[in-house]
Parts: sequence; structure tokens; C-alpha cells
Amino acid sequence: MQNLEWSKLPFGYVKTNYNVRCVWKNGKWGEIEVSDSEYINIHIASTALHYGQEAFEGMKAYRGKDGKVRLFRWEENCKRLKDSAAGIYMAQVDDKLFFDMVKKVVELNADFIPPYGTGASLYIRPLLYGSGAKVGVHPADEYTFLIFVTPVGPYFKEGFNPVKIAIIRDSDRAAPLGTGTMKVGGNYAASFRGLEKAHEAGYGSPMYLDCREKKYIDEIGAANFFAIKDNTYITPKSTSILPSITNKSLEEVAKYIGLKVERRPVDVAELPTFEEAGACGTAAVISPIGEIVDIDENKHYVYCPDGKPGKWSTKMYETLVGIQYGDIPDPFGWITILENI
Ligand SMILES: Cc1ncc(COP(=O)(O)O)c(C=O)c1O
Repeated sequence: MQNLEWSKLPFGYVKTNYNVRCVWKNGKWGEIEVSDSEYINIHIASTALHYGQEAFEGMKAYRGKDGKVRLFRWEENCKRLKDSAAGIYMAQVDDKLFFDMVKKVVELNADFIPPYGTGASLYIRPLLYGSGAKVGVHPADEYTFLIFVTPVGPYFKEGFNPVKIAIIRDSDRAAPLGTGTMKVGGNYAASFRGLEKAHEAGYGSPMYLDCREKKYIDEIGAANFFAIKDNTYITPKSTSILPSITNKSLEEVAKYIGLKVERRPVDVAELPTFEEAGACGTAAVISPIGEIVDIDENKHYVYCPDGKPGKWSTKMYETLVGIQYGDIPDPFGWITILENI
């Protein structure tokens, strides 16, 4: 076991022992390779560098009180990677290759899986990119799939405490029929303008609205949005947001704890009517939203007047985190235990 200050880890990069890699060429995947280098050798004309032909995933391994290592819904991450790959014409990674590589990289870096009770976990970052050279604008003939891991603490330094969000109207992260539903790098580069604007105004993350009308809520930075009103979990339906696995899981958890669920366009005008609001994603699970500011219209919406997360957000958070760490039974079949790690 590494000697790290586990409970003080940021959501950042820590060098681990190994990463795993596999190359697709001549129409098939090669052998899985193990590397101790943090660097890749990349062709100067690769499509990843020039045309943004790359997609990634983000998932975690959790060490439970029983010492066992759990993966949460890895099949969903694999499915989303397949959708991203299909969307930008890359080679497909099948379930077996994905799982074998995840298992191997977690096993090889078992020393870096944070101990139970520290609030930290092992972040797993699969990356698929066009490594073949093309000068004309075409998909590559060669792809590289690699996975590295890094131990992380909570995404927001506040942890499970209210965050402040700013509505951004002068930049979009993805177009309605573009790549917003895929986890491709270009969306994140496109989101930096909004992120910087929110930071400059003193807020933690930007809230993006739909690109056409700026009327409906899309996403919050690198997380989906949800709200609670009249015993209902409400979350946006949009063609330009990433289908969050956490959000999909929270919909199930919400039903399980007695809420109704609505996935529909969410008008920004509804903001004052919400009882609770939150951002959700793998990194932080739920970040309760304490305040949303509409910079352009000089409006503020406050959701946690006493500074504490709302009761439903707290219940959903505790249920999902409890399942991930194995503290409570998993009635949904979401957990895969990696044996002998
Ligand atoms: C743009 C965006 N939205 C939402 C999410 C949350 O998705 P998930 O719950 O699958 O981590 C992420 C993080 O992966 C993201 O990058």
C-alpha cells in the first residue's frame, strides 16, 4: 500500500505504477501491453491530434470495508465508449477487451486503491484515439486504446457541500445534433470558455443552456443537472448533453426511495420553483447546488439557505455511495467485485 495522504487527495493526477495499452490495426486488436511510462509516442499526423478523433471514459474502483474492490456499472462506460467511437468513426472496443484491460490495470496498481473510509477512490480513465496518420480529413486506419488509473479525492473541494453555479449564455459546449452526447475531447475544449467565465465571476461551474433558444437547462460543467420538486426527481432531456451514468442511476435510486422521476426539457424559468438542485457525475456523485446566479439577468436562486444539502439529495447520495462502497446491499446489480485484489 502506498504511503499517501488518502483523505487529502485532490481530484488530480498521481503517478501510478502501470498503464495498459492495445492497438487496432489491419482491422483487429493486438495484444494488451503493460507500460510503466506515462508517455505515448504519437505520430505527428495522427487524427487524434489534428481532427480531435478521440474519446474517453471516467469510472472508479472502490475498496469496501470488507477489503473487496468494486467496479460500478462498468458495462455502461463500455457502452458509452462504443457510442462515442461510433459517433466519430473510430474502431470499437468490445466488452471483453474493455473489462480485461480495466481489471488488469486495477490489479497492477492495487497499491494505489485508497483504503475504505478515506472518501477517496481509484479513478479509471480509458482513452481511445486515432493514432494512425492522415493528412486529408478522414478517420484513421489505426487506433490506440489505453487505460490509466489515479487515486482521487472528491471532485469539488467542498465535498458533499453546496456549490455555486453561474448560467452561461455566450458560449455552447456542443451543438444540438453535434457531439454533445459523446464523451469526446473537443466538447471539453469547447467548454473551457464557459468554465473560465464562471470562475472569473467567483462560481464553481458553468450551467449551459440549450444552444437554440437558451431556454432550457442542458448541463453543469462536466456533470448533469437534476432538481427536486413536489416529490419528483426532474432531469433535462436534451440532444446535446452527455448521458451521465450517475444520473441514470440516480433516477433508479430516486424511484427506489419513493420519488417520481421526470426526464424532460427543463425550462430555466422553473429555477425559482425547485426545492433542491444538484449536479451529478462519477467524480463527485452529487454536488448539491447552493446557489445559481444568472449573471446576464442579475438573478440569484438559493437552494440551501441553511448551508446544508437537501434531504432528498442527501438520501440519494448516501444510497448510491453506500452501494458503491458495498456498505449497503446492491438491489440493482450494478456492482462487479474484482476478486483477489
Ligand atoms: C459533460 C459531462 N456530463 C456529465 C458527466 C457525468 O457523467 P457520469 O455520471 O457518467 O460520470 C460527465 C462526466 O463524465 C461529463 O463529462
